[in-house]
Formats: sequence, structure tokens, C-alpha cells
Amino acid sequence: MENIYMPLKARVVSVTNETPDVKTFKLRLDNGDGACIPFLPGNFLEVSSFGAGEAPFCISSSPTRNDAFDITVRSVGSVTSGLHKMKPQDIVGIRGPFGNHFPCSAVQGRDILFVGGGIGLPPLRSLIHYMLDNRDDYGDITILYGARTPDDRVYKRELDQWAGRKDVLFLETVDVGSKSWSGRVGVVTILFDEIFVRPKITTAFTCGPPVMIKFVIQGLLKMGFRPDNIVTTLERYMKCGVGKCGHCAVGEKYACTDGPVFTFADIQKLSEKP
Ligand SMILES: Cc1cc2nc3c(=O)[nH]c(=O)nc-3n(C[C@H](O)[C@H](O)[C@H](O)COP(=O)(O)OP(=O)(O)OC[C@H]3O[C@@H](n4cnc5c(N)ncnc54)[C@H](O)[C@@H]3O)c2cc1C
Ligand code: FES
Repeated sequence: MENIYMPLKARVVSVTNETPDVKTFKLRLDNGDGACIPFLPGNFLEVSSFGAGEAPFCISSSPTRNDAFDITVRSVGSVTSGLHKMKPQDIVGIRGPFGNHFPCSAVQGRDILFVGGGIGLPPLRSLIHYMLDNRDDYGDITILYGARTPDDRVYKRELDQWAGRKDVLFLETVDVGSKSWSGRVGVVTILFDEIFVRPKITTAFTCGPPVMIKFVIQGLLKMGFRPDNIVTTLERYMKCGVGKCGHCAVGEKYACTDGPVFTFADIQKLSEKP
């Protein structure tokens, strides 16, 4: 990208309604050949809804499925509700990809534990697809997912696919069930009682609301995980996305350039606790 502040045009290929307030947008660069952007799981984009502004979103698809790239957006305000009005063929602006990425290569050969909550699944989904597409490079893969209600589960079709795979252990729960829900009810950490992990050879990736992350990390430490084997993402208010404006500062780090991916060991060293 020549000018880091100048958005490129991307065309909406498809829109999937995930939950009443979450949609996934499949995007392709509007540059003639529809080429994708180079990215790694964990990178984020600044996406603009013209006339409403721009906001950061992680890329929720994997670079191994590189014909297009996805963002999954919860409608909470002006930019996100502008995006929610988009239909296939509409144009959005994108800057990026920005930020660091998950340590996809460094954890090769290790067991992997994913713990996702609600709208925290999109960044993990990118890495989950990446690892499933390079399945032989990783040991046991366990995916734990918690949502507020059955309706709030994102990627419902994919969750069923993960549950059906023999090379993955997938368990999920909801905080509050419904008449048609026959699965588990309770917070995501209740799933820890159902899994067997070997903390010394396992790396845990967790994304979700801050309160969930707090209890998940406590649980992982209790299981014997070292802080540098626990990986998460930090969401901060962002503007430039490229380390210039200072909006995303957390202690001496910028979430947009030093992050958004941090190990818990990195977070413990910050002078300001997120
Ligand atoms: C690196 C990164 C990756 C992200 N990935 C995703 C993603 O994949 N999907 C997704 O839906 N969202 C994601 N977000 C959050 C998303 O950027 C915000 O929801 C978005 O900026 C809201 O913009 P808006 O104009 O619609 O809301 P606004 O009109 O700006 O705000 C609406 C309400 O949301 C609150 N709010 C806005 N931004 C944040 C924030 N960052 N943290 C806490 N509260 C906030 C405001 O205080 C206000 O109450 C990510 C954020 C970061 C920093
Ligand atoms: S968003 Fe501007 S410095 Fe991080």
C-alpha cells in the first residue's frame, strides 16, 4: 500500500447473518483482478463505511482460503451500523492489514487450545481455519466456545462441522439456554472440567469479552499453563491503526503495532494493566 492513510476499495461479495446483531462480510479488492490482500491470522483492517467513518476489525478468514477475506461485525454504533446496511456488490474502504499476528509457525508441533467467547471467535476463526488447513503441523486441537444464548452463536454451520471432525475436540456452551437448546448451559470455563490438556506442550489462544478473558486466564494458570503459552488479543480504541496517533496506547505499547496479539507474559510486563 503506497499511502497508509488512503483506503483501497473492496467489494462486498456476500453477507451472512450470524446473529440478530452480527454479520459476516466476504470482501474482495475492487482492483480489476479481485486479488486478495496478503495477511496472517491476527492481523486487522481499518474498514470504512463511506459517510460514517472507519473502524478496526480483525480478519476472520484464513489466508489459506485466499480467494476473498472476511470481517465479522457486531452492530454497536455509527460505522458498524453503516456496514450492516451493506449488500453484495456494495463498496467499502479498507486500510491494512495492520498489527502483528498469531504465532502460527512458532507453535507448530504443539497441542493447541482455543477458548472463544461471543464475538471473540472471529480472530480465532482465522487461526482455526489456518491450522485445520495445515492440520499435520499441529498436535491435538481443542476448541471451546461460549455464547450468551443459542441465537448469539456465530458461524453456526462451522461449529457443527468442527463438532463433527475426528481430528478436533469441539465443545460449546451458552450462558442462558432456550427451549430448543439441548446443549450445555454455563460460562465457557465450565468446559475446562471436560478436557484433558498437557499444559507444558500446549499453547492456549483466547479471545472474548474482558471478563471472560480474566477467568479463562485464571483457569489456564491453575491448570499449569505458563504465561508465555497463553495468547490473547487486546482491543483498544484505535484511529490511525499504524502507530502514529497514540489512541491505542496501553502502557508503553501501542495495541495497533505491538499488538493486537499479546501473550499473557507480555501483558504482565505492561506498566498499565489493560
Ligand atoms: C484490533 C481490533 C479488532 C476488532 N475486531 C472486531 C471484529 O472482528 N468484529 C467486531 O464487531 N468488532 C471488532 N472490533 C471492535 C470494533 O472496532 C468497534 O466495535 C467499532 O470501532 C465500533 O465502531 P462504531 O462506529 O460502530 O461504534 P461507535 O459509534 O464508535 O461506538 C458505539 C459504542 O461502542 C463503544 N465502542 C466502540 N469501540 C469500542 C471498542 N474498541 N471497545 C469498547 N467499546 C467500544 C462506544 O463506547 C459506544 O458505546 C475490533 C477492535 C479492535 C481494536
Ligand atoms: S491507533 Fe493510532 S497509534 Fe494505535
